Amino acid sequence: MNAERLAAARDLVEHVLERFHEAHRRELPRIVAMARDVEAGGGPAGFAAPFAALAEALEMHMFKEEMRLFPMMEQGGNSLIVQLMDDMQAEHRLHGDEGAHIEALLQAMPTVADAGSSLALLRKAWDKFGADLAEHTQVEDEWLFPMFRR
Ligand SMILES: [Fe+2]
Ligand SMILES: [Fe+2]
Repeated sequence: MNAERLAAARDLVEHVLERFHEAHRRELPRIVAMARDVEAGGGPAGFAAPFAALAEALEMHMFKEEMRLFPMMEQGGNSLIVQLMDDMQAEHRLHGDEGAHIEALLQAMPTVADAGSSLALLRKAWDKFGADLAEHTQVEDEWLFPMFRR
């Protein structure tokens, strides 16, 4: 990889960390807490569990990217990087499926008139997070990872 492409890849890694990893770490604990409020406030038993599971899976995923994949990228890539990117992309698909499952759970909940209710706040925060996660995955799958596949 030439110096120009390596600099572009490093910039993209920096962007992913600031724009997505940091945002998820700010928002997910809040989202899990709101889901627990909804469950505690008469929501279905187990309602918060998939939110907590996704938050945990995503934290482990981002940790692997930060500790293993991104440092390999900073060095310009190596022979192990393709396997690791394949693993990360498989996890992206799992998170996408889990997100769609949560989306369906939210849609099955009643509509609420009160915009300040736990459920309304959760829906709003989830919509923002969901859009971020989709963009995060797209940037990695379609822009960052392909730079190291040639
Ligand atoms: Fe990431
Ligand atoms: Fe990722």
